[in-house]
Amino acid sequence: MMVRTLLLASFALLLAAPAAQAQDSSFSRIEQGRRLVDAADCVSCHTGDKSKPFAGGRGIDTPFGVIYAPNITPDRETGIGAWSDDDFYRALHHGQRPNGARLYPAMPYPYFTKMTRDDVDAMRAFLKTLPAVRTLPRENELMWPLGYRVFMRGWNMLFFTEGTFQPNPDKSAEWNRGAYLVEGPGHCGACHTPKNILGADKSSQALQGGLIRDWFAPNIANTVQDGVGRWSIDDLVEYLKTGRNAHSGAVGLMAEVVENSTSKLPESDLRAIAVYLKDADGGGEPPAPSKPDEQMMTIGRAIYNDMCAACHKTDGTGVPRMFSPLAGNANVQQRDPTTVTRVILEGARIGPTDAMPTPFAMPAFDWKLTDAQIAAVATYVRNAWGNAASPVTAGSVETLRDSLHQSRVSGKAE
Ligand code: HEC
Ligand code: HEC
Ligand code: HEC
Repeated sequence: MMVRTLLLASFALLLAAPAAQAQDSSFSRIEQGRRLVDAADCVSCHTGDKSKPFAGGRGIDTPFGVIYAPNITPDRETGIGAWSDDDFYRALHHGQRPNGARLYPAMPYPYFTKMTRDDVDAMRAFLKTLPAVRTLPRENELMWPLGYRVFMRGWNMLFFTEGTFQPNPDKSAEWNRGAYLVEGPGHCGACHTPKNILGADKSSQALQGGLIRDWFAPNIANTVQDGVGRWSIDDLVEYLKTGRNAHSGAVGLMAEVVENSTSKLPESDLRAIAVYLKDADGGGEPPAPSKPDEQMMTIGRAIYNDMCAACHKTDGTGVPRMFSPLAGNANVQQRDPTTVTRVILEGARIGPTDAMPTPFAMPAFDWKLTDAQIAAVATYVRNAWGNAASPVTAGSVETLRDSLHQSRVSGKAE
């Protein structure tokens, strides 16, 4: 009981400490807000034109259509300059506009609702320091009848639980800090948790991998085969800080998360996130997949040795931090092969960060290999060197190729 009380008290202190400072100096208040805005990666979605950060205009592709993130700079007419702090809190905590209209969950308020009022107020204090930028709002392109926000009332009743994060007294203060960051501002599950057909989280499978904008955000719970079970706390911290570690490199959407958000967090926060993920229940190891066809493996091996082994090595061990090892790589063995297939189609680049300034690139193979060849080499890397995952079909490569092509044509590519 004593220990519990102490733990709770120390967690309360962790949350409350910046607030106490805030009253003394508005600089530290704004700094607190800036860190939280980094942790929540508000800038990624709320920036269309990179020269106007937070001024909105980026289209967020959802299974229901495109939703444009609005301007959240202090412009009074086209931004949120005229909003009160209560209005701002209502948007983040309840998912509502000042007039009561519901926001779409493409804005991750089902996560932001977990943030404390004090943290949300600090974010507002930071956002008020941005230059006011005037922009023209863009109309959402949603399937009928979802353009009517009134439908979101029902969605909220079914799927949205409002409420500030409650610390778990049985866990350490560090674990609770990690839980707060992952479930609140970091909104990791917005991508990493599978969704139901109405786009809501399947919360019983939290962090176990989800399909998002033609990427598969892998399982990041603590399973060995397809989760972060083989990664140490230090491996996780290094990945979130620099976008790479001995096991993998972040590409696509995760490269953006690292660049705009996690690389800017203090090491103590990254460690807390890692402690939480290493304790996240992955629902057990995935069931053994069916064995791939021998002939497909033979074709896949030949393509791999010809086109991939120069970087990733014949035995799949790669060159850590430059060309990911593919042997034992969890990202390659997800139940859904979208990310592996996409990386082979489009190539990849691990972006530079302050800590690791050199980018490394993998060429695109979409123009060189047929759907069947890509399926074969993807199946091979998912099943060679002790890896095991379901085979990839030519049909699924074709579907992904078409979808990526569509996004490029419509300018909505991610
Ligand atoms: C994953 C993308 C994404 C992230 C991350 C995100 N937003 Fe949003 N946000 C949106 C979208 C999309 C909308 C528009 C939703 C709608 O039209 O219903 C929105 C709407 C809003 C609104 C309502 C504005 C208005 O005019 O109605 C506010 C305020 C807001 N976001 C603030 C934030 C803040 C602060 C953060 C960081 C803590 C943040 N958002 C992070 C996508 C995002
Ligand atoms: C916008 C969507 C998105 C968000 C938000 C996001 N991720 Fe990711 N994440 C991805 C995708 C997609 C990948 C796979 C990227 C790749 O292939 O490199 C990934 C990969 C990862 C990996 C590597 C796993 C492996 O086995 O290789 C880790 C660890 C990770 N994310 C942790 C996090 C954490 C922690 C957060 C929250 C702070 C987070 N992610 C938020 C989309 C996201
Ligand atoms: C010129 C070097 C190079 C070649 C050739 C190459 N790759 Fe890559 N590969 C990279 C780089 C760089 C990355 C991105 C950073 C990382 O994940 O290490 C990458 C990433 C990957 C990933 C994602 C790994 C992860 O950890 O998420 C897969 C899967 C992959 N490559 C498969 C292949 C296959 C299959 C081929 C052949 C068809 C191939 N690569 C050819 C350099 C290369």
